[in-house]
Parts: sequence; structure tokens; C-alpha cells
Amino acid sequence: MCGIIGYAGHRPAVPVVVEGLRRLEYRGYDSAGIGFCRSGELHIVRAEGKLGNLEEKLAKAGPAVTVTCAMGHTRWATHGAPEERNAHPHASNDGSLAIVHNGIIENYQEIKADLAARGYVFRSDTDTEVLVNLIAERRKSEPDLLHAFAAALREAHGAYAVCLFDRDEPDTMYAARMAAPLIFGVGTGENFVASDIPAFLPYTRKVVFLEDGEIVRADANSYAVMRTSDLTPVTHEVKTIQWDMQAAQKGGYRHFMLKEIFEQPRVITDALTGRLSAARDAVLLKELDALPVPKRLHIVACGTSYHSGLWGRHLLENWAHVPVQIEIASEFRYRESLMLGPDDMVLVISQSGETADTLAALRIAAEHGAQTLGLCNVVGSSIAREASAVLYTQAGPEISVASTKAMTSQMLMLTLMAIYWGQRAGVLSAEGRRERIAQLLALPAQLEAQLPSMHEQARMLSRKYAQARNFFYLGRGHCYPLALEGALKLKELSYIHAEGYAAGEMKHGPIALVDQTFPTFAIALDDALFPKIRSNILEVQARQGHVIALTNPGMDIAVDNVWRIPAISGPLSAFLVLPCLQLFSYETADYLGKDVDQPRNLAKSVTVE
Ligand code: F6R
Repeated sequence: MCGIIGYAGHRPAVPVVVEGLRRLEYRGYDSAGIGFCRSGELHIVRAEGKLGNLEEKLAKAGPAVTVTCAMGHTRWATHGAPEERNAHPHASNDGSLAIVHNGIIENYQEIKADLAARGYVFRSDTDTEVLVNLIAERRKSEPDLLHAFAAALREAHGAYAVCLFDRDEPDTMYAARMAAPLIFGVGTGENFVASDIPAFLPYTRKVVFLEDGEIVRADANSYAVMRTSDLTPVTHEVKTIQWDMQAAQKGGYRHFMLKEIFEQPRVITDALTGRLSAARDAVLLKELDALPVPKRLHIVACGTSYHSGLWGRHLLENWAHVPVQIEIASEFRYRESLMLGPDDMVLVISQSGETADTLAALRIAAEHGAQTLGLCNVVGSSIAREASAVLYTQAGPEISVASTKAMTSQMLMLTLMAIYWGQRAGVLSAEGRRERIAQLLALPAQLEAQLPSMHEQARMLSRKYAQARNFFYLGRGHCYPLALEGALKLKELSYIHAEGYAAGEMKHGPIALVDQTFPTFAIALDDALFPKIRSNILEVQARQGHVIALTNPGMDIAVDNVWRIPAISGPLSAFLVLPCLQLFSYETADYLGKDVDQPRNLAKSVTVE
């Protein structure tokens, strides 16, 4: 996720901004840049890669000791490759304005075309460069920069946190937010804006949490917050932050994993941004427009990403009528009888985009002449570069070794792919699409509202079951992959042996293990398979097995612990189930004193076979 910092104060601003960017490094980035005004000119210094590269360039550019106002950016690529020309800040054509941006301007192509017709030229592939030029264009007709900034933002749809500098006001910064984080730091004789509090925490603990649809104009000694819609002033309480630096990087959560679990509503919103038609009845995946609807789709992945694929198969088959085969990458790559050709599409799913087995599978698929498609989180990763087309999950960096929000983002993208191919193949009606898209749009608020009680329930159950040495996770249909994921999370975090099974498979062997020391976590939702899984649960109970059942209101089920979550019809209920499984594993591991963010023997990116 991009990191932004803006500073107006009395200190040398460039080192303040570089250090601020360093404290935002945990968000992940592929390039960085800094902007400030000196001698009536805007100065922009940018570099690909780590901050050290930027510092080297800054040193060469000469000291900027007199500058007391500057802004900086670390970029996590979303539009355009991670190269210096796409790094921020971006300047307007006339060299008067510079901007840094986190987020996605959904309608930037339309705006770009309009500006291009007026003679604007674009040196980068970014939506950000379009925005800064739109502000410059609006300035021609608006009374001042503030009005021009607000007018441009009202035209830009999507998500943004931006900081804007004007060559003619070298000590002033402008900033605005919409659906992307931006926090204002109130100092003494200095003010800050940043994507996250750690950026300025050494200087001030006093913050204003800006809201969506707000603009701020600030210099060293004053600031004013206004509504973007009509520039009416807004008064916010100044809050005092008590967290230390480490806690601040984790957003006040105990662990990155917990933070990432709680980020999932935002991850869903971000994945939907720019991917839906204005009428909310179609999915836009321009990355796939040039590819045919697959005749046969092979999904290949490892671990949690494999579970996403297994879940996505249900939607791709049911909604888009695309026949799907799915395989673990380490098996796929060594299969002697791979039958692939130009009619096959191989979809590889990988958060990191670097997993050795998945990358090898992709290469083998390409050698066989199949079309290849990557679903990755890390922009510019090996898989993203080598696949013939790539879709990004836009979940932001996942720091906890155990994958959580990446799985949610992968499932969301698979859902969008199912709707998209369903609409292209003519098998999913406009009504069907509208209904599913409405369900998707409702998800972030539903999940946000549920997360605190889910967390509480997970905490309570973890205390009860933490001493178990074994666990079964059972599910059927689209809940079977979730059972696999629940078991994976529990074992990797808490080191409790856990097995995920298709519930109907229990009686073919595994049930021999069940006794009163071997509990079962069953996912038994309000769907057509409920009577079936209830029978499987009864079979477990008949062997004295204790059962936690994750179910919906009104479902008639008598087990040791009934955990009810709101019903969402169909497979999208997974978006509420998954966080429950994650939180249960998280709480169990934390209660047992395990290293939650870095479990033993595991690496975030498995780049060896
Ligand atoms: C589990 C986990 C792993 C990864 C797997 C694939 O929590 O994180 O199972 O899902 O190593 O990694 P990616 O998705 O990066 O290919």
C-alpha cells in the first residue's frame, strides 16, 4: 500500500519526510519519491527500489536545508510497472503543481482522454498524473487552487488519499481523502499529513482523523479542514495517541495478523474499486478482455492460495459454466501426462507471485501452449511478469506469515471473474449479475459490523479448546475449502494438529480417530447441504466427539458450541466464515504463547522447491 507523508514546519523538511517514509516501509513499496519547492521551482526526486536509492539521489541533488515544507511517497504499484517514471510525486504539465497519491481513480481513462484532447501529455502510466493535470486545468476557471482542487476531486471517482503542492505557495500543503487512509498530525509550529500515524509519531501524538470527502489546507502554524463538496469548514476533535511506535505500525493491534484480519472489509472494498460498471450490473476486468472465455480452466496454486482456487471453482462452474480443474502446484509441475493446449487456460494464484512451485507450473503451462493468467498481490512479481495476463488482488502488503486478507482478496477476484465470464458467455443474466454485485457491495459493512463479536466468540472458544492436540474441520460444498483453510490456519499458528475434511468423507476412515479428546469444528450453514452436514455432525457426536458448529440464525443444531453468524445466501457467505476461522486460530495461538506473526519453520515467500 502506498505511503504518503507531507510536512510543513520549522525543521529541515527533507530528512523529516525521508524518515517518515522509513517508518511507513512496513506497508511495502517498490519505488519512492520526494517533492518540495525551492527558489520558485518544484523539485521532484524519485527512485526505483528501496529508500536508500532515493537517499543517494537526494544527496546528489544537493542539500535542501532551507526547505521546511516537503512531501514524500512510497509506491506500491497499482497502475503501471514499478519504475521510476511511475513513482510519485507527479507534476502537472506546466510545472506548477505536484501530487502524491494512494488509491485508484476509477475514471482516469476518460479524464485522460479529455485532457489529452486539450493538449496535455503524460509521461507515466498512472492515474495520479491525470489527477494533477486535471487540477491544473480546473485552476484556469476556478478562483484559486483550493477551489480547483475540490472541483477536480469531485470529478474523480474512486479512492484517494492525496497531498498536493503548489510552486507559488512553497510553505503550504493541501491534502484530501476518499476511501483511503489519511491522518493529520498537529504539531507545535509544524503540521503533518500521512497515510499512517508512525510517519510522524516522533514529532507529535496529536492527530485529526480526516474523513472521506474532506480536504485540508495547512502550513506550519495553521490548518483548516473543509468538505470537498462545497468547501464548508469542518471541526474535528484533536485526539491524542497513546501507542508506541511498534503498536502504531500495527495500527494499535497486538499483531500484524490481527490487523490484517480486521483490514478485510477494506480489502473487499479495494478489490471492487474500478471493477464494476456505473449501473452496478456488470464486472469490468479489462485485463481479461483480450482473452477468450476459457473452454477449460486449470487452477494451480499452493497452500492458502490453493484453497481460494478450490472455493472459486464452485462459482466459476456455477455462474460462468467454465469447467475447472484444480491442482496443487508441486503436483501439477511433475505430472507426466499433462494434457494442455491452446484451448486451456491455466490460472495460477499466488499472493507473493514468487512461490517456486507455482512459478514452475506457470512456465510448464506456457511451454504446453496454454494461455496463462496470474492472480497475484505483489505487483511486478515473477508470476505477474511471466503470465500472459495478470489480475492484481490489491490487498496491500501482507506482513503476517499466515495469509489472511490475501485469501479474501483472491476469493473476491475469483467471484468477479465468475461474474465477468458469466456475462461474456451469456450465461449469467443482468438480473443475476445485479443481485450478486449488490451482495458484494454489501459485504464490507456486514463484515465490519461482525468482526468485533466474531473476535470475542473466537477468544472465548480458544480458551475452551486450546488444550486439544487434534482437531477436525468439516465442511461440504463451497465450505469444504474453508474447512481445509481453517485446519491449515490452526496448525500453522498454534501447532495443534488439524485436518480439514469434506464432511461426507469422514465415515470412510477419519472418523476412527474421533473420541472425546478430538474435537471437530464444523461449518454448517443455512444451505441445501445443511441436513447432510448435520448428519455428519451426529456421527461425530455418537463417538463422543465435541463439536463447534459455525452456523446461521435459526438452524436447528445441538452441539457443545453453536457459533452463529448472519446468513448470506450462497457462496458469498464464505466472506463471513473465513474471518471466524482466522480469528479462532489467531486467538488459540496467541493464548498458547506462540509467535503469531512468524510461526516456526515457515517463510512468507516460498521461493525454493
Ligand atoms: C498459509 C500461507 C501459505 C501460502 C502458500 C502460497 O497461511 O500463507 O500456505 O498461501 O505458501 O503462497 P503464495 O500465495 O504467495 O504463492
